[in-house]
Amino acid sequence: MRKFNNVLVTGGAGFIGSNFIRYVFDKTDFEGRIVNMDALTYAGNPASLADVGQEHGDRYVFERADIRDKDVIKRIFEVYDIDCVCHFAAESHVDRSIVAPDDFIQTNIVGTFNLLQVAKERGDKTELFHHVSTDEVFGSLGDAGYFTEKTPYMPHSPYSASKASSDHLVRAYHDTYGLPITISNCSNNYGPYQFPEKLIPLMILNALEGKPLPVYGEGINVRDWLYVDDHCSAIWTVMTQAAAGETYVVGGRCELRNIDVVKRIAALVDEFAPPLPSGKPRAELITFVKDRPGHDHRYAIDCSRLEHDFGWRQTETADTGFAKTVRWYLENSEWVESVRTGAYRQWIEKNYGKRS
Ligand code: NAD
Ligand code: TYD
Repeated sequence: MRKFNNVLVTGGAGFIGSNFIRYVFDKTDFEGRIVNMDALTYAGNPASLADVGQEHGDRYVFERADIRDKDVIKRIFEVYDIDCVCHFAAESHVDRSIVAPDDFIQTNIVGTFNLLQVAKERGDKTELFHHVSTDEVFGSLGDAGYFTEKTPYMPHSPYSASKASSDHLVRAYHDTYGLPITISNCSNNYGPYQFPEKLIPLMILNALEGKPLPVYGEGINVRDWLYVDDHCSAIWTVMTQAAAGETYVVGGRCELRNIDVVKRIAALVDEFAPPLPSGKPRAELITFVKDRPGHDHRYAIDCSRLEHDFGWRQTETADTGFAKTVRWYLENSEWVESVRTGAYRQWIEKNYGKRS
């Protein structure tokens, strides 16, 4: 088992990064320090980690910093004597990448390159560079078959192309310079603290407010859903146990068509929240809208290798995970309101200034 003293988590104020930091402190035997480096873009919210800062004292440090800036990365590595990187920071939303791809190139590709350079320049001090990636790098499946570690790359969106590019760079730094790296390519995540531009939180909040539930095309695209804590446990497993240079695909064995996800979410909101003034079931809010250009038809992961090598298993099913998630959004109205109204941006600007 690999052990780390000072782990740099990039993008730790985002959805998966914030859940990961909480997971590592609460559910593993990690005894060191986590430095969360995050630029606080629209998707980053320090409020997602308010409790962590209070509970873990100087074992948790937040640095507002941008991975597009190599000098800043260098300073952080030196000041905190970083020996491990878990790299989440990215522009992560496919729809945004279609209308404004520039930041995806700068953050996902150039930012990853900057981190790799600094990690390499630190020589033996770098125990591990773990890169958190997506199954979208493999492109789209037809109605049969699964992505595995052997699937060739065939990204379609600017987002997935930028992530594919960063995966290749990470692997190249292992093969060329011997940098100890691992990579995980995971399917769609859901759970607490996800920004409500992604399918599940958007549908929960719209359903709650009685707004339309926009389903792209005919809603027949398939995604493989994984509860975020199960992704975090997979990442930690790979970081501590996988051999350097290895890649693992991670998935939920939970394929669902978008329309079925939205119907289930609408029904759960009906179950847990007060009824709409009209008294109608929220599934009636479903509205079919123009399809996403280049919309990948189906993602599905065969995660046998992760299960076989380390005995990793997911703990949540769609039934338990969706219900937990809907409840979380209903019970955390303060976080939801600050994100929905944009109040969290005002707080960030007051405390940290605007992002350059
Ligand atoms: P997110 O958009 O919620 O969070 C991204 C975080 O990165 C934010 O806190 C943001 O402020 C930060 N960030 C963005 N640009 C930055 C920069 N230049 N410098 C420093 N910080 C920056 O994303 P997420 O859903 O938590 O995804 C995290 C990672 O996991 C990404 O690399 C994504 O590709 C990957 N991933 C996501 C999913 C998913 O379903 N969400 C699935 C598989 C893999
Ligand atoms: P999303 O959460 O954006 O994740 P990704 O594009 O990375 O898979 O979308 C999940 C699926 O839901 C995807 O097939 C697009 C679809 N979708 C909708 O139908 N309506 C929406 O409003 C959104 C945001 C997504």
